[in-house]
Order: sequence, then structure tokens, then C-alpha cells
Amino acid sequence: MCGIIGYIGSKNATPIVLEGLKKLEYRGYDSAGIASIDKDKMSILKCKGRIRELSNLVKKEHLTGSVGLGHTRWATHGEPSERNAHPHVSCSGKVAVVHNGIIENYASLRTLLEDEGHKFSSDTDTEIFAHLVEKFYHGNLLKAVHEALALVEGAYAFAVMCEDEPDKIVAARFGSPLVIGIGKKGEYLIASDPIAIVAHTRQVIYLADNEVVMLQTSGYRVTDRDNVEVEKEVENITWSLDKISKDGFSHYMLKEIFEQPQTIYDAMRGRLSKEKNDIRLGGLESHLKWLNKGEKKTTGLDALIKAKRIVIIACGTSWHAGLIGEYMFENVLHIPVEVEYASEARYRNFIVDKDTTVIAISQSGETADTLAAIKEAKTRGAITLGFVNTVGSSIARETHAGVYLHAGSEIGVASTKTFTSQVCILALITLLIGKKKRIIDDKRVNTITEALFNIPQQVEKILKKTNDIREIAKRYMDFNNFLYLGRGYNFPIALEGALKLKEISYIHAEGYPAAEMKHGPIALIDKNMPVVFIATDTEDQIYQKIISNIQEVKSREGQVIAIASEGNELIEKVSDAVITVPKTEDFLTPLLTVTPLQLFAYHMALLKGHDVDKPRNLAKSVTVE
Ligand code: F6R
Repeated sequence: MCGIIGYIGSKNATPIVLEGLKKLEYRGYDSAGIASIDKDKMSILKCKGRIRELSNLVKKEHLTGSVGLGHTRWATHGEPSERNAHPHVSCSGKVAVVHNGIIENYASLRTLLEDEGHKFSSDTDTEIFAHLVEKFYHGNLLKAVHEALALVEGAYAFAVMCEDEPDKIVAARFGSPLVIGIGKKGEYLIASDPIAIVAHTRQVIYLADNEVVMLQTSGYRVTDRDNVEVEKEVENITWSLDKISKDGFSHYMLKEIFEQPQTIYDAMRGRLSKEKNDIRLGGLESHLKWLNKGEKKTTGLDALIKAKRIVIIACGTSWHAGLIGEYMFENVLHIPVEVEYASEARYRNFIVDKDTTVIAISQSGETADTLAAIKEAKTRGAITLGFVNTVGSSIARETHAGVYLHAGSEIGVASTKTFTSQVCILALITLLIGKKKRIIDDKRVNTITEALFNIPQQVEKILKKTNDIREIAKRYMDFNNFLYLGRGYNFPIALEGALKLKEISYIHAEGYPAAEMKHGPIALIDKNMPVVFIATDTEDQIYQKIISNIQEVKSREGQVIAIASEGNELIEKVSDAVITVPKTEDFLTPLLTVTPLQLFAYHMALLKGHDVDKPRNLAKSVTVE
């Protein structure tokens, strides 16, 4: 949802800004722009489209100057176009602004500014800010930014430059991430994500909400909204930038699907020990912490063990992982769980009391709704835990304790490998609590541990079927609607399979609990409606029930594509296409059944000629509401 970068130092800012923008492109890719100041003169280049279009433009224009801002956009207000691309400038053209977030009161501010004679040249909410800074500017950029911020409602990360103070960048954060990079010899950077600046420095400062920073080659100064100086901790980035390459794969998404044997293993590595029959999750070590309500409580694993109720908060694919967590925690541990869409939870009176522990699940760690819901849960006195992939992200920092997924950067916009890592972490926690509470005996812990360690090679086996899955996708690529049905642990997989198909193939698909079909969706079944059943063998009666659901579809001429257990001959007979997966413990089957559905969506999108890694209208990190 928009990526920001800024540079001030002694080098040419443009290549540094462009390089950073490439790393931020996952945040939005409908238009991009760059501004730099050289010899007290501001130059701006912007275009519709991707960073590569901007790079082409820059090659022609030869932009120089050692202070610069860049932006990659995911449209909120105003269509993707050159006119709406950032940076936006004030009437005089002297103030340039890049922004990530939404200014909610932009309409009233625009009217106010227009009444004062300001002329707007875009449809964006962001442009307001350039005009507001201009309105308040009387020779002090920092002061003008502070005064402008006082009028703005909504979420933002802003970075501002001014031709009259060409030696400064002023940036501010409320609700959208911003990190300051402290480079060598008077070099400073600002970005939405440290990955954009880590090539230049590992010394960073994470800006908190309501903080404003002024960067100059002589140093930086962080202030709060009242312009009072704030002492900030300089942190050292210890992670290394993953080699962001496709490693010979045609798309990041395919590479990430194929990485799953390794990423699932990495989620368990150093945490689950076969030899010692032990599970350790360092990030969940319990500490006594003061909570917002003035109480002292233990965080981490203790908060899960003692919880009378768990609320899981997430969005999209991470929400589907949360739903599997609910089934695991309730079935195995008998702890009541609710899984909330973060966007709903934050605006309703979701019940969180002192006996509730709240878990946020997020790949990016920056999803605005999830972050806001966690903040809300904290104000109500809850212990919060974050299961997050991105180290140092806002959710990781906001929660009391948590577990990192260790899945490495996920670049493909559709989440794949981080989903299986999330499910794996939830399985580890189930096992850990089950062991601690003596719900799962040692023998069973051994069996489950064995099963977990088998998962990577079982996924490997499924990945070998990619060509068969492609052939199935070919047979069904002209259908316009799909139904995905599953039960128990595989109901969330039906939702996830349908989401993957929707987001990258642009084919309408619905996920349902299989037995719900007869309460409505069955009316849709005819020869034009392929139904994907996740119908693996189970220890309970669910499998038999699913077979009946398949028969119901077949008797109405529906087309059945089944994800079934290896060796199941019956399913072969009743289905039009079958993809088999190895057998495992029931609660671990989602780790296997999701892979064929990821590949199915991938091949379908490719066959239809879509941009798999950057599907239309989507962005990787949803930092706006
Ligand atoms: C789907 C997808 C999205 C995200 C959702 C939450 O493939 O990627 O549905 O899962 O936007 O994002 P995170 O996990 O970063 O909070």
C-alpha cells in the first residue's frame, strides 16, 4: 500500500531512491515517482506503471541532486495515472510530498484550501498535505509540517522536501510504517520498510506514531507532535537481505511455493527436537509485564496456557491460517477460540477481557487493520502475541511477545509459503501447550513430532505433480466459476484455495464447508460448475460425509476435482480429476492439501496470461484500511 523512500547525503540520491523503490514495489505498483533537489531547484519525474517505467524515464532525464524522495503507489484516491502519482507538489512547486496512508478528512481540507486559493492538480488525498505545508510555511519546514499535521485525520507516513530548505527531509508517522536509516558520513535515509535501505546501513530507528523526524546531513532530530525532542533507540539490523531473485523460477510465486519444504522446516528448526522430545519457542518465553490497565501479567506461553479464551486476529490468507489454529486449539487443547477479521474486530465491541489472550497473525506485520485491532486489544488489557514473518515490523513491535515465521522474504503478492509457516507454528504451539498441560502424552508427542518432520519431504512429493496439476488447470481454464469445499481442518483450505484462484486468475471462486452446500450453493451446481473437494482420509467420519457430498455434486452433473489421500481408489472413481497427497496426522493435513491448490491457481493464472506476481488491484502489504 504505497512505499516511501528518501535520501539525504553526499551521493546522487536518484539511483539510491530508485533501488529502494524496487525493493518496495511489493507495496504497490500502479504508478511511481521521484523528486530531487539540485542547486536549490526541485525536479520531479513520475509515471503510471511500474518502477521499471520510472527507471526508463530517469535514464532519459538525468536527475541529479543529493536529496531525494521516491514513491511507489497503490491507488486509494484517484485512478492510477501520472497526474495522481506521487510526489505531489504545492502551488508554488516548492514543497514535494510522498505519502502512505489515507487522509480521511481530505474533502473538507481541500475545500478549505481551495477557498484560500490553492489550485489542485490531482485527485489524491495526499496533495492536500503539500498545500497545507505551503500554507503554514514561513521559513521553517519542520514547524510547517507540525502545523499541517495538526489538521490531518487518518493514517499516514509522510516525507516532505522544500526547495527553500534544500538540505532537509521532514517525515512523520501515524499508523503507517517509517524507518530512519543512519548511514555513513552525514548520510540519512527514510523508508517504509528497512529492506529498502539495508544495502546502505544497518543502523535504524523505528519511528513511532505521532513522531516527526528532520533529516539533515548534519544529523537527525525526532520530535513528538508537540515538537518536543524524543530520545530514540538506534537499533542494529541483524538479518541479512535475502537474495531477492527468482532462482531460475519463472515467478516469485512459483519459487515460493517450491520453497515450502525448506520454509516449513525452518519454522520448526531449533524449535522442535526429535531427540529431546522437546519444543522451544524462544519468542514466547514468559515475562512479567505491566499492561495498559495497570495490571501486571505474564506474557508469552504463560498467557496462552492460562488463557480461558483465545482471540485470533488476522486478514486474508493469515485469517485462514488462524481458522486452522482455532480448529487445532479447540479440538486438541479444548481452549475456546474465536477468529476475527481484524477489520471487523477493531470497530465492534469485540470482547477481550483479562482472561483472553489475543494472537495477531500476519506475514507483513504491517497490515493496518490487524495492527489497529491489536492496539485496541491492548487498551482493553489483553496480552497480545504476534505470529509474524517480517522481523522488526509494526505488529512484531506492538505485541507483548511472539514467534517469527522465519520464511524469508515473500515477494509474490499471493501468500503461499508464509501460510504454511503460520500453520506450522500453530501446530507447534498446539503440541507445546498439549505437552505442558499433559493433554498430549509423550508417546503421542513423539508421533506428532515425527509427522511434522515428515511434512517437508511430503510437500516435496506433491510439488513433483506440478505438470499434472497444470494439465488439470488446462482442462478447466475456461470455466468462470469454481466452488471449493472442505470440512474440519480442510474447510479453511477450501477458503484459501478459492482465494488463491480469485486473486491471481481473476476467476470467481467460493469456499464453503462441504456440508453447507445443501443450504444454498447446491443450487449453482450444473455441468458448468467445477467443484474442488478437499477430501483426504480422516480418523473421524468426516471423510465418509465428504464422499456423500461428492455424490450429491456428481448426481447434478457437477465436475469434481478432488484433493485426496494417496491410495484412495474410491475417490478416483467418483471424481473427474484427482490430485493425491501423502497421509499425515489429521491436524497437519492443511500443510499438504494447500500445495496442490496453490499450484492449481498458479497454473491457471499463467495459462490465462496474467501477471502472477503482481495481480491487478492488489498490493503485498495492506497498510491502509
Ligand atoms: C492473499 C494475501 C492477503 C494477505 C492479507 C494479510 O494471498 O496475501 O490476503 O494474507 O492481506 O496480510 P498479512 O499476512 O501481511 O497481514
